[in-house]
Amino acid sequence: MGPEIISEVAIDQTLWDAIQEDQSRARHDVIPHGERHIARASDKIVQALGASDFAVSLRASVPDRNLSQSVYATYLYYREGDWVPLHVDDWNIFEFSCLVCLERTRGSSRPTATYFLLGRENLMALDLNVREAVWFHGVHIPHGRTPLSEGESVVLLNLGFSSSSRTDRPHEEKNHPEATDAGT
Ligand SMILES: [Fe+2]
Repeated sequence: MGPEIISEVAIDQTLWDAIQEDQSRARHDVIPHGERHIARASDKIVQALGASDFAVSLRASVPDRNLSQSVYATYLYYREGDWVPLHVDDWNIFEFSCLVCLERTRGSSRPTATYFLLGRENLMALDLNVREAVWFHGVHIPHGRTPLSEGESVVLLNLGFSSSSRTDRPHEEKNHPEATDAGT
């Protein structure tokens, strides 16, 4: 499965407003994670997202994988100079990832993007607008984000799903230092 762009996430306005309030609160309680900051969503939001129609539709899009009912939800805050190197996500945390854009401010320079390595010289760059999202197999598709320039900021919601059908899971399952990976 390649990255799938979702032009308008089907999250109802009540939940959307609650997510925005939660990420705004959580931004005062962030922890550094590489060259950007992250915060966990509140339990209430995690539960609401896991039970949402949006999560139902994401699970249904990969019927052969039996994606988890529970979700992993983290806010990713990027400001000028923040970035994430090319990486794959950790099987031990989540396998599939949906990055939902919650806030976006573009600066005067060329905007930066989340990018995906789809083949040896095939890069896909995505600069999401608010309410746009990208859904991808994060343990397989290398992805990252280029450093934000002056005046730029981005807030993303990373919605992660694990899978109970890990037939193609790599054999070397080690708890490496990236085990706290939280998406891009
Ligand atoms: Fe990631």
